[in-house]
Amino acid sequence: MSDTGPRLLVALDYQNTEQCLNLVQQLNPADCRLKIGKELFTAVGPSIVESVQKLGFDVFLDLKFHDIPNTVAGAVSSAAGLGVWMTNVHALGGERMMVAAREALAAFQQKPLLIAVTVLTSMDASDLAGIGIQEQPEQVVTRLASLAKQSGMDGIVCSAVEAAQMKSIQGAEFLTITPGIRPASAAQGDQRRVVTPEQAMQNGSDYIVVGRPITQAENPAEACAAIAASIQGL
Ligand code: C5P
Repeated sequence: MSDTGPRLLVALDYQNTEQCLNLVQQLNPADCRLKIGKELFTAVGPSIVESVQKLGFDVFLDLKFHDIPNTVAGAVSSAAGLGVWMTNVHALGGERMMVAAREALAAFQQKPLLIAVTVLTSMDASDLAGIGIQEQPEQVVTRLASLAKQSGMDGIVCSAVEAAQMKSIQGAEFLTITPGIRPASAAQGDQRRVVTPEQAMQNGSDYIVVGRPITQAENPAEACAAIAASIQGL
């Protein structure tokens, strides 16, 4: 991978600007990039993107767009207008939606990386059956990852457990962004299939997403720097 920037993405799961910036001010843009999701973005709006960019951080805008192609193209274009480094859509929106999202970025010189979510890890086989999908989650993930690649996406969000398999099927250049990461010393919380930062990188993750082990740490700056150091050069 040619990117020499930080491969640690810190999830800013907050509902107000003050708490969020209080954390961000303790972090070093040389150690991490920041993930802004639906909770924070809906609560405080796009100004938070600009605020953290001004502090020197790249932003992954994790809004998982899923709508008709024209609307998703507009949303992705708005994200690019904010100057974000990465954004994402749901692969379940289908090929035409993903292609429209890709085409919407053609006009931008600074294009965000465009990532697809396959199957939410909160969904199991019975949830899929409930929406009329009879396959196992792993089969659906593999199929949607292929569709995402075919539709011009730069990569997918997946479990670090699946990253090596995704790379072997889709090729090394297809990016894998992996949440569910816990340093050996951290609490597991509500995550189930957790992987350590080192293990995730060894499995072929390009970027690891870490939230609470940093945001809830007694010393977030130290926790962030320690994880960044642990994956340096992997
Ligand atoms: O605090 P924690 O490290 O569990 O946060 C992980 C972040 O990654 C959260 O923002 C969560 O919404 C997100 N995420 C996840 N699992 C997925 C997709 C996204 O935990 N499959």
